[in-house]
Amino acid sequence: MLDSRHAASNLSKAFTATRLLLKGRPDYVIYKASPRLFQIALAMLGYAADERYSRMQKTFYEGLATLSPESVVGFFDAHEEFPYEDFLLRNAPRDGITTKLALDFGCGMGRMIKRMSPYFQRVDGVDIAKPNIEAAKKYTDSLPRRPLFYVNNGRDLSDIPSAAYQFVYSTIAMQHIPVHSIRMNLFREFHRILGEGQIAIQMVYSASSERARIRQKDFGDRFRNITFSEWEDDFYEAKSTNGANDVIITDRTVPKAISDIARLGFRDVEVAFSEPPHETIYDKWIYIYGRKRS
Ligand SMILES: C[S@@+](CC[C@H](N)C(=O)[O-])C[C@H]1O[C@@H](n2cnc3c(N)ncnc32)[C@H](O)[C@@H]1O
Repeated sequence: MLDSRHAASNLSKAFTATRLLLKGRPDYVIYKASPRLFQIALAMLGYAADERYSRMQKTFYEGLATLSPESVVGFFDAHEEFPYEDFLLRNAPRDGITTKLALDFGCGMGRMIKRMSPYFQRVDGVDIAKPNIEAAKKYTDSLPRRPLFYVNNGRDLSDIPSAAYQFVYSTIAMQHIPVHSIRMNLFREFHRILGEGQIAIQMVYSASSERARIRQKDFGDRFRNITFSEWEDDFYEAKSTNGANDVIITDRTVPKAISDIARLGFRDVEVAFSEPPHETIYDKWIYIYGRKRS
């Protein structure tokens, strides 16, 4: 029985690898075969630690999105049922933002662009993975105000002009970047691309790392392969992303997160919490708000 399950799993892996090779993604096949060797190869090619991390993320997301952009989202239906608008627009009166331009960071296949579009003049999207952006173009093609899309390198938003937006938001993306220096650079970029405006960035919260570990144990096998780091860590060596190596904000690091973001020039930086939309080892979803004033 065990042998036949093993054989079926190997067959399915071989089938997926063949599909990816046929779709021109040998990088993903190599990465999945050995994330460690993938990183060593990048180091030998002269990539710095932050570039290696972003290359891993890009390879992961482009490979997965080539297979299925919906599967990149994970718990898709739970996220669709969750009232993200209430939290993202908490500090933005809905009748006062219809003339504003918004950017969805880590937009994936455009799920939240579709939902946030009715509130803004237009919502654009940026994502590290080109196949996600291709899926997002299709998913949002019925919107009256067609979004602009950008593919970034995972570390900056260099193709986006300064002061282009009045609102930047993100759902289930920033928690997947456990490298403090990269996250700080992205927050710095959010500040640059805002004219006068605000950010609403969702991440994950646990009272403490210890508490998340206890919950992880309580779940048994279900979330066994997850590791996570804390706000100030630079986990460049993370082998995977999209939930496998998240960053959590804890009671200890909420003040540090707020002061880091305020130091970039944001005013009125504050956080709010909600229940998570689905089963998880983390206590809450946390939302980080801040304003840029001219
Ligand atoms: C779980 S999906 C969420 C997609 C979308 N925000 C949603 O709520 O449906 C995470 C997304 O973040 C993107 N992402 C992760 N790290 C990124 C980075 N460093 N720069 C840009 N996009 C990133 C991924 O490509 C992926 O589309």
